[in-house]
Amino acid sequence: MSQIKSVLKEDRRFEPSDEFRKLARIGDFETYARMYKESIDDPEGFFGRIADELPWIEPYSKVLDWSDKPYAKWFVDGKINACSVCVDQHASGPRRDKTAILWEGEPGDLRRYSYAELQVEVSRFANALKARGVKKGDRVAIYMPMIPELAFAVLGCARIGAIHSVIFGGFSAHSIRDRVEDGGCSAVITADGGWRRGKVLPLKAVVDEAIAGIDSVHTVFTVRRAENTVPWQDGRDVWMHELLAEVDDDCPPERMDSEDTLFLLYTSGSTGKPKGIRHTTGGYMVGTYLTTRIVFDLREEDVFWCTADVGWITGHSYIIYGPLANGATVCMYEGAPNQPHAGRFWEFVEKHGVSVLYTAPTAIRSFMSWGDEHVTKFDRSSLRLLGTVGEPINPEAWMWYHRTVGEERCPIVDTWWQTETGSILITPLPGAVATKPGCATVPFFGVDALVVDEEGNEVPDGAGGLLAIRKPWPSMLRGIWGDDARYEETYWSKFDGRYYFPGDGARRDEDGYIWIMGRVDDVLNVSGHLLSTMEIESALVSHPSIVEAAVVPRPHELTGEAICAFCTIGPGFQSGDELVAQLKEHVAKEIGKLARPADIRFAEALPKTRSGKIMRRLLRDIAAGREIEGDTTTLEDYSVVARLLGDEKA
Ligand code: WT7
Repeated sequence: MSQIKSVLKEDRRFEPSDEFRKLARIGDFETYARMYKESIDDPEGFFGRIADELPWIEPYSKVLDWSDKPYAKWFVDGKINACSVCVDQHASGPRRDKTAILWEGEPGDLRRYSYAELQVEVSRFANALKARGVKKGDRVAIYMPMIPELAFAVLGCARIGAIHSVIFGGFSAHSIRDRVEDGGCSAVITADGGWRRGKVLPLKAVVDEAIAGIDSVHTVFTVRRAENTVPWQDGRDVWMHELLAEVDDDCPPERMDSEDTLFLLYTSGSTGKPKGIRHTTGGYMVGTYLTTRIVFDLREEDVFWCTADVGWITGHSYIIYGPLANGATVCMYEGAPNQPHAGRFWEFVEKHGVSVLYTAPTAIRSFMSWGDEHVTKFDRSSLRLLGTVGEPINPEAWMWYHRTVGEERCPIVDTWWQTETGSILITPLPGAVATKPGCATVPFFGVDALVVDEEGNEVPDGAGGLLAIRKPWPSMLRGIWGDDARYEETYWSKFDGRYYFPGDGARRDEDGYIWIMGRVDDVLNVSGHLLSTMEIESALVSHPSIVEAAVVPRPHELTGEAICAFCTIGPGFQSGDELVAQLKEHVAKEIGKLARPADIRFAEALPKTRSGKIMRRLLRDIAAGREIEGDTTTLEDYSVVARLLGDEKA
């Protein structure tokens, strides 16, 4: 598996406009390159200066201690409170009355909180937690809909030094149970219900099922949202609104060490039990603060909307910590993007004057398939910058985002990072770096990224290989909760401790740009050539009939593996032999005969995780005609797989 052959051809290149450059925080490539060099040559000087922009309670004595590799310590001995960084510093200054959170519920209800109001809300939440005995170092699970109280809960924990562990509101009781047990959580914050696609999700009932018999949980705090009836256990359960009525507005923030744990966030990976990724305070705040400011070119008047759920790292870093640390106005939306109509997001953009929009390729492909008219019907002139994250974006979807959403005016930042990295690591800076559709481009400050072979030797430009990162960065994970051995094994053993291994394939092109080629598990071997499934998928999606494609290998006597493609087709196209033949030719023309799929199958939908990633592992089993193995609880919709299996038998 030493070299992945890269076959994607993409020559389009988009320079930032002069207009954008003029106002940008970093407006030319030379400035980026100079700052990048400095951040690599002297990370302590560079990040020390950034850290000094945050309100420390007590200064640090040393910027970085990397002597206990692979466990970094950043801003050693510094004392800081993440909630104060996000809230207090703004609430007592000129941003007092500026909107911090602008929220819409799925049914259309609207709420706004200024920084001064946010300070009161989070302080009361923090006091409510304290009133039930939650204290510094305790783990608190949060299982909530996307309502403002979710942000209050997260920040309230941070204020008193409790470690939050947010569990995405779409997860099942089983997934909650694993996470609450692994983290040894002593309290859970939930809501009666939340709105999704016009229905109420019964969150409190799911929590009750999940934690039945878990003794560590002494309190379940329930926020009233959907007014649905809920099961109740006296003694353990409290209504948040009742408790909030009894506590006062003032809660002094806890003095936290820079390396105290701020939160755990579980990431499932393709196999095995979920890993509790551990992030600490000082470095994480510096990383999210800086990337929000630079990558999203944040300006005082921006209305920033990251459409992720707070249940994912994207929501932690770019709805809560990063933007609020910068004193920004952030948007939050509770529901589905097509509720009550397919233009809901664009209506939101128009209504609230969103200027920076950050979303995921899976959402972009859905919008594409729903039709341009739902987008163009609304005024998008407030938008000035677009972002994407979560998986490689195929150039077709990138071009659609650029043209239809951004009206060719907005730069696109394709940001590569992970739950583990805490903040964005590879990305264009919108005023400084020309973009190429489908390319995450250049490393962010302090990120020493390499493309290497199995032995850890750098591969020549143009060749595919493994992405590796040589230096520690402030917001990196500090380990896996309760399992240091697994941390070392998963991320550091591949290259004998020399580099962090994210598990992604990549290629560096002649301009030094890094193209992410997807998870290294997502490659296939055709006649001895390793191909990235993502590149073949991009070729398929560039055919007008195809909305989404997933490519997986199936065993083949002659070629080792044969290429099997699952595709969903757009409205107005007919599946059948003729389209199959056309698509095979299309891929052969775009990439080469080598990449021509052996099988093409049409599906109504592809199996995805709840964060929108295609579960190729399941499709591999289906393509090979095997029983489906491994965990399917993280699937968004099992019926998609059931239909594919039914199709198999027919
Ligand atoms: C994996 C991390 C970071 C927040 C969301 C996902 C893939 C993420 C990109 C991108 C290509 C990307 C990688 C990475 N990924 N962003 N811009 N281009 N691939 O967090 O669930 O921890 O997943 O998502 O494979 O390793 P996550």
